[in-house]
Amino acid sequence: MKKILVLHGPNLNLLGLREPEFYGHLTLEEINAQLSNLAKDLGAELMIFQSNSEGDLVTLIQEHFDSADAILINPAAYTHTSIAIRDAIAASSRPVVEVHLSNIHKREEFRHHSMTAAVCVGQISGFGLHSYLLGLRAAVEAAED
Ligand code: DQA
Repeated sequence: MKKILVLHGPNLNLLGLREPEFYGHLTLEEINAQLSNLAKDLGAELMIFQSNSEGDLVTLIQEHFDSADAILINPAAYTHTSIAIRDAIAASSRPVVEVHLSNIHKREEFRHHSMTAAVCVGQISGFGLHSYLLGLRAAVEAAED
């Protein structure tokens, strides 16, 4: 069974309450439940974490170098700033898929650049919950058994 590490970055614990015009009304628990349902259909196993801390996200990526077959990550605001997360992704030999609920290219200019996308297989941005669901399909597809 393919094992997928799912990482949610800072402030995503506030989903449901936080700027629903950008991020919708679903809570993180509801998104995780939908991901878990899809994972069952795809025959994948998920390891899901959320952290507000850049260092914790780096450590989680490192700790799963061996145990994850692929990584699905929404680095949230660290997308735009974090060389440390980018380097951790580059150091992992696993395929990584970057997702965003909102279309980052349609928002403020500082969100247009992703530090992390260039070391990922690809980026899915702007489809709300479906960014995550499409991203999970892409991660499972990219993962090696
Ligand atoms: C986000 C977009 C980021 O710019 C923002 O900082 C987030 C969420 C998204 O999912 O749309 O926190 O990654």
